[in-house]
Amino acid sequence: MCRPEHFAVTYVINPWMDPVAGADAGKAVGQWEALRAAYLALGHEVSLIDPIEGLPDMVFAANGALVVGGRVYGARFTHPERHAEGPAYSRWLRKNGFSEVLDAEHTNEGEGDFLTLDHVILAGTGFRTELAAHQEAQEFLGRPVVTLRLVDPRFYHLDTALFPLGGGNVAYFPGAFSPGSRAVLERLFPNAILAGERDAAVLGLNAVCDGRNVVINAEAAELIETLRAHGYAPVPVDLSELRKAGGGPKCCTLELR
Ligand code: ARG
Repeated sequence: MCRPEHFAVTYVINPWMDPVAGADAGKAVGQWEALRAAYLALGHEVSLIDPIEGLPDMVFAANGALVVGGRVYGARFTHPERHAEGPAYSRWLRKNGFSEVLDAEHTNEGEGDFLTLDHVILAGTGFRTELAAHQEAQEFLGRPVVTLRLVDPRFYHLDTALFPLGGGNVAYFPGAFSPGSRAVLERLFPNAILAGERDAAVLGLNAVCDGRNVVINAEAAELIETLRAHGYAPVPVDLSELRKAGGGPKCCTLELR
């Protein structure tokens, strides 16, 4: 995770961002601290990368890389405003014991668009990560990568529309995907938990599940109830300040597998 000390909304690279309204870094740090505390309370280990001044979106650690089986597929950001983040995350990972780091040739935004299940990696494209990056990641990681096409600009990263539940299942908002990708999801995950527009619109799908606990935006009221009914333990958090940049709990979290 990366403390949002330099968090701000100063440019527009997704429909959530409004530089006129701006955002409050102090408030963001408070909410982020509560997210970190939630992970620690659940018994998860949290490592921190130093924030860099001039990179207001660096708090969204999920975009910094994709780490699977100890191998690091490095991020290559779409927008110049975030270009410097890729090398910063790769440097941190190298320094912290990950020796197999690939400097990607193709544009990709790490775990923002790559979600790892036991047998397959789901990969988003349409707004940020290039199709060629899906193939590059598959070849480097030796895991099957399934392409999913995103069609709604509010859900510009796969992790804003879908999250893995563990046990080979997922939760998702069908409206974020092309008809073909919806059909793929129905075939792969016949027992998926489907979320509605209201929960998606508060970034309720940008959640982190460890197989039982689900760290999720508190405003996603219906989805929280559905998860509970399916036997999961929702852990609601308030990340409303970070949502002003288009991010939620998952965006703030890079998983080191
Ligand atoms: N403002 C950032 C961007 O548009 C937010 C990134 C959110 N991260 C994520 N994993 N969805 O790039």
